[in-house]
Amino acid sequence: MKSKLSIDLAELRLANPAMLAAGILGMTSFSLKRVAEAGAGAVVTKSVGLKPRMGYPNPTVTQAEGGVLNAMGLPNPGIDYFAEEIRKTKSTVNCPVITSIYGFSAEEYAKIGKKAEEAGTDALELNVSCPHVEKVGCEIGQDPKILKTIVKTVKKNVSIPVFVKLTPNVTNIIEFAKTAEEGGADAVTAINTVRAMAINVETKRPILGNKLGGLSGPAIKPIALRCVYEIYPEVKVPIIGCGGIRSWRDAVEFILAGATAVQVGTAISFEGPEVFQSIKKGIEAYLKKEKHGSVREIVGLAHRG
Ligand SMILES: Cc1cc2nc3c(=O)[nH]c(=O)nc-3n(C[C@H](O)[C@H](O)[C@H](O)COP(=O)(O)O)c2cc1C
Repeated sequence: MKSKLSIDLAELRLANPAMLAAGILGMTSFSLKRVAEAGAGAVVTKSVGLKPRMGYPNPTVTQAEGGVLNAMGLPNPGIDYFAEEIRKTKSTVNCPVITSIYGFSAEEYAKIGKKAEEAGTDALELNVSCPHVEKVGCEIGQDPKILKTIVKTVKKNVSIPVFVKLTPNVTNIIEFAKTAEEGGADAVTAINTVRAMAINVETKRPILGNKLGGLSGPAIKPIALRCVYEIYPEVKVPIIGCGGIRSWRDAVEFILAGATAVQVGTAISFEGPEVFQSIKKGIEAYLKKEKHGSVREIVGLAHRG
């Protein structure tokens, strides 16, 4: 029997809709286990590529008003090493494990995806939206033709569900959600960080080592919510809402806008993985108070005429 909080996301069953977002505590099986034990409905790994990558020089993170600016540059150990972390994570957590991947070509995405599948991951999330890495991030997510080719190629090569993480750094996100769906995506995640920067007035230079970065946290919540709300009537696949979520109230807002599940990133840096318990308990209390039978019942309710 399905519990009030459980949801189906493509072929995955999540005990609750609050997932870990890519890039936060997602680099080792130890940290992924910690988040799963704290109550996440699913965990997403740090984005992993074909080869190890150093990332950008410091500073890679700086505080911004209402959020965090980062330009990590996708540091990761490469899929061959990371496959072992996926195996270990799968053997120690009891929620779905989703591997976030990035590549420099459709073939690379497919190769990494296949290796992650062989390591036992439950689904892939294609990072086509990192706002600060050339030739891999938004450059893919901002070109519908390339995006479709990548999604199609990955789908042809794996049999697990494929999610596509969209960038908000486009004029019309609906077009990209539809393109991902046409390519065969099983769900879309909205959104990755918003392209942004900060300047130090004393040194008179950009603060981040990479100069430009991505904004996350509460400051981007209204943007992310708008994206989910806009996409919902236009696609059939489930939407995973992400951006600035730190409370059950935020999570419910995204679900009412049309998200089947939500992801939490920056809030974990401030509040720790315990944030998952409070989101879970808060949604449960809200359903009871509002007399809704399940979280599935309230998906997209904000669209009623
Ligand atoms: C430090 C940091 C690292 C991130 N790394 C990744 C990553 O590797 N892959 C990815 O798809 N998104 C990455 N993100 C984006 C988050 O997954 C998320 O989309 C974004 O931060 C908005 O959600 P939030 O406001 O809850 O953090 C990263 C975000 C931060 C703050």
